Amino acid sequence: MTQRDWPVAIIGSGNIGTDLMIKILRGDGPLRAAAMVGIDPDSDGLARATRMGVPTTAGGVEGLLDMDCYGDIEVVFDATSAGAHRANWAALEPTGVRVLDLTPAAIGPYCVPVVNLEDHLEAPNLNMVTCGGQATVPIVAAVAECGIVSYAEIVSSISSKSAGPGTRANIDEFTETTAAALQSVGGAQRGKAVMVLNPADPPILMRNTVYCLVDGDTDHDAIESAVVHMAARVTAYVPGYRLKQRVQFETFTAQNPLHIPETGKFSGTRVTVMLEVTGAAHYLPAYAGNLDIMTSAAKATAERIATHHRENAGATR
Ligand SMILES: NC(=O)c1ccc[n+]([C@@H]2O[C@H](COP(=O)([O-])OP(=O)(O)OC[C@H]3O[C@@H](n4cnc5c(N)ncnc54)[C@H](O)[C@@H]3O)[C@@H](O)[C@H]2O)c1
Repeated sequence: MTQRDWPVAIIGSGNIGTDLMIKILRGDGPLRAAAMVGIDPDSDGLARATRMGVPTTAGGVEGLLDMDCYGDIEVVFDATSAGAHRANWAALEPTGVRVLDLTPAAIGPYCVPVVNLEDHLEAPNLNMVTCGGQATVPIVAAVAECGIVSYAEIVSSISSKSAGPGTRANIDEFTETTAAALQSVGGAQRGKAVMVLNPADPPILMRNTVYCLVDGDTDHDAIESAVVHMAARVTAYVPGYRLKQRVQFETFTAQNPLHIPETGKFSGTRVTVMLEVTGAAHYLPAYAGNLDIMTSAAKATAERIATHHRENAGATR
């Protein structure tokens, strides 16, 4: 495929949108940053876009529709907020353009590239879940390859400084969308997600803890091997993603069960996986791996879609 011949637009000139723009500009794949769209003409993201040679509008989605380049755009990334995405999608859908939603609005199917991207290459609106979901759903899916995950719970801790107003407005949506993806993509029977905004200074790296309750007898070596393999697949597109320590196992027998308030006694294995994500510091410093896990997943998804369409020599619209 010719490099940089797949024009894309980004709506939302905040933390996520700006990090994504820089990643696309510095990448060597097919994507070309053809438009950066905001609503605040004084935003740092729009100023950076202008300095980096990317056409901009501060007129929101209507401004994007009016840009000369709009007819060429293959993919619109939405990095605004869940509420704004609903309005943006209402404006974009009739034009037939493909949208990758980086907010937790969850209009389209959930996409976690290493788990289910191949199932959704034609989806008009694809939801990239959340930063916590991109970090943890692959691990739950890996454990679920080895046994029945009756419950998955994740805790994502991110630095307060890396959470813009759009993120802060979407904490409920983060919780609901991540929990739903742990089930529908990760394969857990029940899921729960918790986000911690940590104001520590100096800022903390993004950390994620994944707990899976696996029913009955389990093969610890098989689970550890599946988790390590899956982590390596995520690291292929998010270089700062890694296991913080070895996978932990705790066994609960019928004589020594785990007591769960909602469901009663559990016998089986609690698998605990600790993850850390260092960012590439494209926009915010390296502590903000929560930007990278989302923007790298979205970029990898768009690149795969571009390749798929070129392979099939199909027009997207
Ligand atoms: N920060 C993270 O770690 C992170 C990670 C993954 C996903 N997300 C999600 O990404 C979204 C953005 O988060 P953020 O931290 O970048 O927030 P942010 O507030 O820094 O960025 C949002 C940007 O969108 C702009 N905007 C708002 N409404 C708009 C509209 N209608 N049209 C065009 N632009 C509009 C704002 O002016 C702002 O520049 C949120 O939904 C959040 O949940 C954030």
